[in-house]
Amino acid sequence: MKSYHNYNGGYEMAKIGIIGGTGVYDPKMLSNIREENVQTEFGAINVKVGEYHGVPVAFLPRHGEGHALPPHKVNFRGNIMALKKLGVERIIATGAVGSLNLEMRPGEFILVDQFIDFTKTRIQTFFEEGDKGVVHIDMTEPYCSALRKIVVNAAKNLEMPIKTKGTYVCTEGPRFETPAEIKMYSFLGGDLVGMTSVPEVVLAREAEMCYVTIAMVTNFAAGISPTPLTHAEVLDAIRKNNENLKKLIIRTIEEMPQQRDCACQNALKELGSLGPGI
Ligand code: HPA
Repeated sequence: MKSYHNYNGGYEMAKIGIIGGTGVYDPKMLSNIREENVQTEFGAINVKVGEYHGVPVAFLPRHGEGHALPPHKVNFRGNIMALKKLGVERIIATGAVGSLNLEMRPGEFILVDQFIDFTKTRIQTFFEEGDKGVVHIDMTEPYCSALRKIVVNAAKNLEMPIKTKGTYVCTEGPRFETPAEIKMYSFLGGDLVGMTSVPEVVLAREAEMCYVTIAMVTNFAAGISPTPLTHAEVLDAIRKNNENLKKLIIRTIEEMPQQRDCACQNALKELGSLGPGI
């Protein structure tokens, strides 16, 4: 056991977590990788814990390795709980999205700042029974503004274009949307559409973790795109941009200050500081 690791419950600890979305399964940017099988009340979760220049980082492919899980089957609570148990305080998530906004084009990165939730079957809280009580978590700034600033600065230092705001419409999936739905989402103020940011972002806040989503536009959404959408098209767009995404994540890790000074770490304070069962 190296000295910079805290050791708790037998798990290799990491303060930074990466949740890789569609097409981002590769933790190769880390060295000394170990597989942790983290037991949570929502099931056992496999997480790779490695190091980036001596900084321990946890890597979790959201859909499982090889995209085995469709969005509505992702174990969001297990994933967030597993990262919490590993000591993760800040999560950098990636997600493929379609665009409703002609100024957000395929190939671009968008650091979303708001979401609109159209999911249907997903449990969005750790607090649903017994002595844990009920929690109505504040979502005024769902994505951590401090962590968003660190990512924006990292992109700036890399001279990599990134849009710093955008509203993510989260759908249930796994099907793509109809053009009528896309029109409605656009009227409602959505810029991007994807299937996974909710409830991940909500659960991360309940777990008092900082969370950002780097959205990668893979296509114009249905009815805006001149051709029917395919998963292959999404994967192809991701492949083309994956190196840049990795660079951005690495630079963000390099520029991450040790301590957090945002409100995420106290998100449950006025609600009695009930930790999510751990
Ligand atoms: N819709 C929903 N999810 C997506 C899309 C889309 O067009 N592209 C990538 N993920």
